[in-house]
Amino acid sequence: MARHLFILTGASRGMGAAMAQQLLGPDHLLLFMSRQRNAALDAAGCEQWAVDLSQPIEAAARLGTWLAAQDASALASATLINNAAALTRIGAIEDCSDAELSSALRVGLEAPLLLTAAFLRATRAWSATKRVLNISSGLGRRAMAGQASYCAAKAGMDHFTRALALDEATRPNGARVVSLAPGVIDTDMQVHLRAGDPAGFPEQANFIGLKGKGQLTPPGDAAARVLAYLNRADFGTNAVADVRDA
Ligand SMILES: NC(=O)c1ccc[n+]([C@@H]2O[C@H](COP(=O)([O-])OP(=O)(O)OC[C@H]3O[C@@H](n4cnc5c(N)ncnc54)[C@H](OP(=O)(O)O)[C@@H]3O)[C@@H](O)[C@H]2O)c1
Repeated sequence: MARHLFILTGASRGMGAAMAQQLLGPDHLLLFMSRQRNAALDAAGCEQWAVDLSQPIEAAARLGTWLAAQDASALASATLINNAAALTRIGAIEDCSDAELSSALRVGLEAPLLLTAAFLRATRAWSATKRVLNISSGLGRRAMAGQASYCAAKAGMDHFTRALALDEATRPNGARVVSLAPGVIDTDMQVHLRAGDPAGFPEQANFIGLKGKGQLTPPGDAAARVLAYLNRADFGTNAVADVRDA
């Protein structure tokens, strides 16, 4: 039976944990990366790496070595989902430490780019169908005060994906790539935004209102929509997309 490879970052909690659960299946070869292990994924016998993606060179090198050891002839498809991301404390960048800002950019932008490079390098000669799904945000397209580093990482992710799509379109069996905004999801990320100091965060009331009015998407529903988008026949036609446009 031909198998389908999925590599997913940020699988320990939030939408990533829900995507990981929905990807479980006998014909799927799965590799998950986060700092924390997810107990349910451990119970399911999944391969989980406890890696800190703020150190992306090491993570990308390890991914390249792991991919080189796989039997490519047994794989019908290979998919990298860059889902992990990190907010900084809410407020202006000068209120964050340089270490915090640098880490958020490395997790949110540098790691996706380096993991993608490692993935494409290792799978270049594979006959499997290849896809890269970068989980972006509406905040990559609309600026918001109080989270400049996150906005920068997501805008960078979108434009990185546009350029990557041009490169891959020139290659035989190139990867189809999309940077996808997943909607507004009821996860720790939203808890962090609601807890921000409103003095440096004019939109805080909006986020509190979304939760209060029940307008946040449950993580399982968001995961299902993202995975449905991944399986669309036209995946890759638009390098930058929003799951709500589907
Ligand atoms: N929630 C929303 O409303 C919303 C809206 C738009 C876009 N998004 C995007 O959707 C994706 C999932 O968001 P979410 O809400 O599910 O986030 P979340 O609940 O905050 O989970 C973030 C995930 O990223 C991992 N992560 C963070 N820092 C890491 C590091 N240094 N190394 C490795 N892994 C790290 C976390 O695992 P560990 O802590 O175990 O490392 C966790 O699994 C993100 O790309 C986010 O930007 C979310």
